[in-house]
Amino acid sequence: MIEPTKQEKDLEERFSYAWSEYREIIPIHRKQFLGWITPLPLEFFRGKKFLDAGCGIGRNSRWPLEAGAHSGCAFDCNETTVAVARHNLAPFTNCRVELKSIYDLGDHSEYDVVFSIGVIHHLKHPRLAVERLVAALKPGGTLILWVYAHEGNERYRLWFDPIRRAVTSRIPPILARLLAKVLTVFLKAYALMRDQPEYLVLLRERTFRHVEAMVFDQLLPSTSNYWTRAEVLALAAGLPVRVTQMTHTHGVSWTLIAEKLKDA
Ligand SMILES: C[S@@+](CC[C@H](N)C(=O)[O-])C[C@H]1O[C@@H](n2cnc3c(N)ncnc32)[C@H](O)[C@@H]1O
Repeated sequence: MIEPTKQEKDLEERFSYAWSEYREIIPIHRKQFLGWITPLPLEFFRGKKFLDAGCGIGRNSRWPLEAGAHSGCAFDCNETTVAVARHNLAPFTNCRVELKSIYDLGDHSEYDVVFSIGVIHHLKHPRLAVERLVAALKPGGTLILWVYAHEGNERYRLWFDPIRRAVTSRIPPILARLLAKVLTVFLKAYALMRDQPEYLVLLRERTFRHVEAMVFDQLLPSTSNYWTRAEVLALAAGLPVRVTQMTHTHGVSWTLIAEKLKDA
């Protein structure tokens, strides 16, 4: 068992604050999830048993369940967050929601699909986390990881990431939330300007509150890695998987899809 460091505890608490403020699952989350699992369709989950690692409010589990997944297990390491996910996923009796850390996954060769969306890049031991996720997969099962990319975030890394590290990840979440509201006003206006990149164009159809939640999510964490393609591939290198797809999702993130070797 890996004891979380003070920094990791702090990160978990900050996310828990975010999830108790922005706790509702909304229809646009479905489209967002489809982007993160590119190019897989939701039908891919039909009849399958899945694991949602670091589930937050449970929004990413909902769509596979609606699409006919056999069953699911969503887990997160924070108690408050798990309570929100339990509430949101209560209608799905074939999904259990558990409180545990990714490092303590004891489910071996159990799942057809294991996904982790927006989690690994915040962890202190990402490689260990990926090892645990792969161990939870059945041979022939599918691993889906979505993480921030180095490529495509040049301006963000230059101007905003230093501010996150030095300021916004250290101030009380309530102040970060106020700042998120102010930044969202500018971001929504900026997104409307001509010739914007894909990820900014996508913000046009999102509500103010949704964009605010996304901005807040960027301001909070003390650890956020922006990995190159090679670094993401290295997370899976040497493990009993074959990478089948690497997508530069929306030009700012990576979606890695891998199949666990049949003889693993
Ligand atoms: C950015 S959120 C993403 C949540 C969810 N995957 C989503 O896309 O809505 C990161 C989540 O990872 C969780 N987390 C952080 N460290 C974790 C760990 N060691 N084990 C399990 N979950 C963890 C946090 O509590 C938080 O809910």
